[in-house]
Amino acid sequence: MTRGLFLTLEGLDGSGKTTQINRLAAWLKKRGHDVLVTRQPGGTATGDRIRALVLDSRSVGLAPMAEMALMFADRAQAIAEVIQPALAAGRIVLCDRFTDSTEAYQGGGRELGSKAVLELHRLICGNLQPDLTLLLLPDLDASLKRARRRNQRVAEEEGKDEGRFEAEKDAFYGRVWEKYREIAQREPARVVMIEGDLTIDEVQEQIVEAVAERLAVLTAGSQIGSTASS
Ligand code: TYD
Repeated sequence: MTRGLFLTLEGLDGSGKTTQINRLAAWLKKRGHDVLVTRQPGGTATGDRIRALVLDSRSVGLAPMAEMALMFADRAQAIAEVIQPALAAGRIVLCDRFTDSTEAYQGGGRELGSKAVLELHRLICGNLQPDLTLLLLPDLDASLKRARRRNQRVAEEEGKDEGRFEAEKDAFYGRVWEKYREIAQREPARVVMIEGDLTIDEVQEQIVEAVAERLAVLTAGSQIGSTASS
């Protein structure tokens, strides 16, 4: 069965994922690829409602299992409504966060463990795996400062409250960080980790290199996600 290409971006809050995903989408489109950009939680009408519920700091006392179930509900909807149809049409899907986020935040941060997350992923997501995951792990303190500043700005400018996670203690983020590293070590063929205090351009360079390499292998002899006529 032919399939498009499924790329995910992962990392801590404030790691610069959104900037990089936009740049990568532009880079791919310039080369004639048909790209769909989406994010989790969110990306569908139902998902946006789940996102508002789960990120709002007024959602007080949400049980960790309920939080994890909501993340998977969002993902099941996104797979059915957006991701699978796009992959079936041979498009390149760029997804800002996927199940690695649930493993890092709920499995690691909330200490629910990897096993529960991976089992739910098999059951709810049909074990859909990204072809490539770009994991941005800059310095922990710097990313947290950026994320907290950004949420304050969004709250002031747009009246949206998305600060429930960023209000977590540093120990929580330490566990998220560790879990991300563990995932990268466990799955080196899928996950490319981009570490350290790099400039936006330097990070982009590493991302483009990894994606170009993967595209060359996966598209050899086929036309994955391409709108270019040949
Ligand atoms: P988002 O605005 O996407 O954060 P950022 O732009 O910093 O990536 O917010 C998503 C938040 O939800 C983020 O704090 C991570 C958290 N999250 C989980 O805890 N579990 C999940 O499965 C997903 C997808 C996100």
